[in-house]
Amino acid sequence: MRFSDYNGTKNKVTLIGTMLFIHAVLIYIIIYMMVSRSGTQCQDVFQRPFEQHQIRLRPKRPNFPLEQLESNDATKLVNFTEFQYINNNEIICANSEVFLLILISSAPGNKPKRDSIRKTWGDRGPDVKLLFMLGYSENKATEMEIEIESHIYMDIVQGNFIDSYKNLTYKSVMSLKYVVYHCPQTTYVLKVDDDSFVNTPLLMNFLKHDLSPYGAENLFLCNDMTGSPAIREPNSKWYMPVEDFPDDCYPSYCSGWYAIFSPDIAFKLYKASQKLKYIYIDDAFVYGIAAQKANVTHVDLSYYTLAYRNEELLFNGTYDNIPLLFGYPNMGPEQIERVHGYFKNRPVEKSIHKLLGQGG
Ligand SMILES: *[C@@H]1O[C@H](CO)[C@@H](O)[C@H](O)[C@H]1NC(C)=O
Ligand SMILES: *[C@@H]1O[C@H](CO)[C@@H](O)[C@H](O)[C@H]1NC(C)=O
Ligand SMILES: *[C@@H]1O[C@H](CO)[C@@H](O)[C@H](O)[C@H]1NC(C)=O
Ligand SMILES: *[C@@H]1O[C@H](CO)[C@@H](O)[C@H](O)[C@H]1NC(C)=O
Repeated sequence: MRFSDYNGTKNKVTLIGTMLFIHAVLIYIIIYMMVSRSGTQCQDVFQRPFEQHQIRLRPKRPNFPLEQLESNDATKLVNFTEFQYINNNEIICANSEVFLLILISSAPGNKPKRDSIRKTWGDRGPDVKLLFMLGYSENKATEMEIEIESHIYMDIVQGNFIDSYKNLTYKSVMSLKYVVYHCPQTTYVLKVDDDSFVNTPLLMNFLKHDLSPYGAENLFLCNDMTGSPAIREPNSKWYMPVEDFPDDCYPSYCSGWYAIFSPDIAFKLYKASQKLKYIYIDDAFVYGIAAQKANVTHVDLSYYTLAYRNEELLFNGTYDNIPLLFGYPNMGPEQIERVHGYFKNRPVEKSIHKLLGQGG
């Protein structure tokens, strides 16, 4: 064998080797894509349509079975065992009729958003109670401002956990805790974010006329989030380590920006939440994992929201025939004020959906 021949053979071998290697890589990529895609195809039927979701309309029920909770429940939020309220404004619900309790997740520094809600959709009648749910801020000046704000408006509930993204689940469970311990007599509960719009007059008609002025049982309405995978990409806002949540998919859950429920659902979600391993994605935790554990299903209400619609078309009347109850997630105060202004000048439908009231 001549030197050049040997070289040629070597080149051929290298070439074949390289091609095999490339093939192997391609096959690996294809298999990886198939596996990871099948992993993210999350199917769950825990969400139920109205027809199968038995909403029972009924007179107000007595207090919750608190004896089913652990003995240290009052000072506990999931795995945080030193919970206390810094502010709880418990006078808001004490000895009063509450038709709708609105609990709004808000961050300490979000006073402009709270002010915007107070003067727009949050400005309601005496049987609607509205409370902002906050953690605490390590910034002393912010804490002082919140003290003052709480005294002026009496609508702040603040827990002694640091207000941060990773602590959001504490805030959501604190909201349920508040219903259980401080406002069990409420007829309905609405939990929303401080960057949402609520068409309150229409919502009141919906609750009073389509549902019942006496309340309901097993009522849980929201924007459905069925089929969400647990994100394993460490740079993602929704990163979920396998150690904290091993399943590929979350159970069918509700998006966190709004949810309407009856007090019995608040109690069931609360009781289940208190026994779970903490994960910081609060809507997946409370409305998905805890809900599944409590055998609670929800009904999708997204048709009645501006989410997935074009906001600009609202203002030229395109959606005038659709009874819109909610805006969309992540609205700024200007957008909330603009949308509120549109609805303020329009007649309010008495009823949105006859079907919804046929639960019992
Ligand atoms: C609760 O659990 C989470 C997740 O495991 C952890 O990051 C957090 O530090 C725990 N909090 C407390 C107060 O133990
Ligand atoms: C969550 O709150 C607890 C209690 O205040 C605090 O110890 C912890 O550092 C907070 N976690 C984050 C990520 O802010
Ligand atoms: C869950 O709820 C459904 C209907 O709401 C009921 O038929 C079923 O028996 C419940 N399952 C458990 C384990 O409680
Ligand atoms: C609103 O604007 C859209 C897009 O410009 C148009 O298609 C639609 O017909 C308009 N609707 C009304 C009621 O004017």
